[in-house]
Amino acid sequence: MTDARMRALIDRLGGLAYGGDYNPEQWDPAVWREDVRLMREAGVNLVSLGVFAWASLEPEPGKYEFGWLDEVMDLLHGNGIAVNLATPTAAPPAWLSQRYPEVLPVMADGERFGFGNRLHYDPSSPVYREHAAAITTRLAERYSFHPALAMWHISNEYGPTAYNEAASAGFRRWLRRRYGDLATLNEAWTTRFWGQVYTDWDQVEAPGVPRTWMNPSRILDFKRFTSDTLLECFVAERDIVRSFRDDIPVVTNFMRFYRHADYWRWAPEEDAAALDIYPDPADPDAHVSAAFQFDLFRSLKGGQPWLLMEQAASAVSQWRLNVVKEPGRMRLGSLQAVSRGADSVMFFQWRAGRGGHERFHSAMLPHSGPDSRTFREVAELGREVGRLSPVAGTTTRAEVAVLFDWDGWWGLEELWGLPRNDFSYVDTVMRHYRPLWEHHYAVDVVSPHSDLSRYKVLVVPNAYLMDDRGVGAVTEFARRGGTVVMSFFSGVVDACNRVRPDGYPGAFRRLIGAKIDEYWPARPGERFAVEFSDGSTATADWWREDLHLETGTALATYADGLLRGRAAVVANAYGAGRVVYFATLLEAGAFERVLIGELRAAGVADRFHGLPAHLECTVREDERHEYLFLLNHDPGTPVTVPLESVGTDILTGRPTSGEITVPPLGAAVVRRVRQA
Ligand code: GAL
Repeated sequence: MTDARMRALIDRLGGLAYGGDYNPEQWDPAVWREDVRLMREAGVNLVSLGVFAWASLEPEPGKYEFGWLDEVMDLLHGNGIAVNLATPTAAPPAWLSQRYPEVLPVMADGERFGFGNRLHYDPSSPVYREHAAAITTRLAERYSFHPALAMWHISNEYGPTAYNEAASAGFRRWLRRRYGDLATLNEAWTTRFWGQVYTDWDQVEAPGVPRTWMNPSRILDFKRFTSDTLLECFVAERDIVRSFRDDIPVVTNFMRFYRHADYWRWAPEEDAAALDIYPDPADPDAHVSAAFQFDLFRSLKGGQPWLLMEQAASAVSQWRLNVVKEPGRMRLGSLQAVSRGADSVMFFQWRAGRGGHERFHSAMLPHSGPDSRTFREVAELGREVGRLSPVAGTTTRAEVAVLFDWDGWWGLEELWGLPRNDFSYVDTVMRHYRPLWEHHYAVDVVSPHSDLSRYKVLVVPNAYLMDDRGVGAVTEFARRGGTVVMSFFSGVVDACNRVRPDGYPGAFRRLIGAKIDEYWPARPGERFAVEFSDGSTATADWWREDLHLETGTALATYADGLLRGRAAVVANAYGAGRVVYFATLLEAGAFERVLIGELRAAGVADRFHGLPAHLECTVREDERHEYLFLLNHDPGTPVTVPLESVGTDILTGRPTSGEITVPPLGAAVVRRVRQA
């Protein structure tokens, strides 16, 4: 199932990719030789080259300097290191904005962004796009068939949102394609409200900073437009490099929980999803959030291996306090990514820079040089990544899916005017994911438009905004026998952000078997007692719904307050399936009990039952083998795990049978022949 271009990359590298961003343009050529020597020592087989090098490649308009890049490409190739060559279009040179100031983005407040920042371009600007296409073409002409070239890395972390005139013009074109005519736009945006009716397309502008309150449908469409505009930039450069050669992967690097680009729409355009992730070593829960993102990245292309494109070898430099990754943590985080489907372990960056904003960002080769803790750990990890080569191309099978959707995210967070305006979509998703992680369930992440047929349970966290197709898919999933676990404030508005008719939750009233009369967000500090039908009790806070049962039955009711006796958790039979709906924010333990109980009732395999939460257990597999990853996140206590059959720990090469003990912060990867 792996994309053919990715398969070819894996074959070429002989397994997983290991390496990082390499910026030779910042160093004297004498250093390059030392770099490749140490790269070989560290087991590096792939580097991302030229990410911000536009100013070094085209120092003056139309005057190209490729000599240094030729030399570096040759040097790397001569040393057996492949290149993930970047188009440098995330960093337009100073001359471009001096000549054409319109390429600099105007921010939401109307201020123009000055040169000397980062991401200083308006993705809608025709001048930016023309020059980006020109440098991309020159690179592709020169390097498409260079023997070092293994992959194209288009731009870097597509991100900027601009409010220039070009953005407004692009927004109008995008809206015309979506709605056709102004009457339809006015209807979709409910512009009769506050007399915001448009009578000429030129009246429609990019929204900017709201001075009072803005039309929520306009803001939502602008989010969609911005994501699509950045995607157009990616596709334009991808098509250029593909027109020269189409047998190598073309990717771009995405960011952790990035709200401004809908990765579900992007992923099909790439050969692999690639992630840059910088979990804060000071956050004791960072690995749980990382696990979700790794699952998301595996799921973006339906279970295909993805690429860990950037991470830190130790500390980052972007926060107020940047603590180190303690010994063993970098290894554990890297293996965690591989355990959840990554076919690479890559870093930002190879050699620590001496100057510039990121001069204290760690690197594979730190300021203290090869005789350092970090380099020793990097070189040791390089050896282990080599041993993990059989894992490349394998995937994970999950019976549970968690819905994660950018439209829903924008709906909850971009706009005011909701019953409460402090929703955090990521927090709510993580509240649903955490118990699944703690119980070691394999989880896929899905959009409302994904194929849901392979799952037994679908978890839907606060899905306020969903289009009709998504609503149909969730409903159909239950009708055909799946279990839907859904939480409050779901199915409220349509794709245009208009409240669905027929009472709340318009999209899911029949599905949950109840009608909601009113949303009752909690007052500050307010807590409610909840009683389950088995007599157990729990507390809840933050949100309540005045819910009236139709076909559903109460699993739990409020035990106090004005809603006493009303359902707080509802179960409903729907078609051949079952739906459980949480109308309040239950305390974590009670939520976990209900959720995990539903998984068990739905027959989801519970293979790692009884193992402690801090021992992360995941499986990658192909037709012949399975690879059981055991990662102990606890710094103090070893964990002994019973094993069902004989195998080999491929990190050590030692045979395993009976049981295996995973030391504190340690790991094992047990390969076994798959049982028929
Ligand atoms: C990434 C980015 C890199 C570098 C890194 C460390 O987001 O792509 O260029 O800035 O962060 O902060």
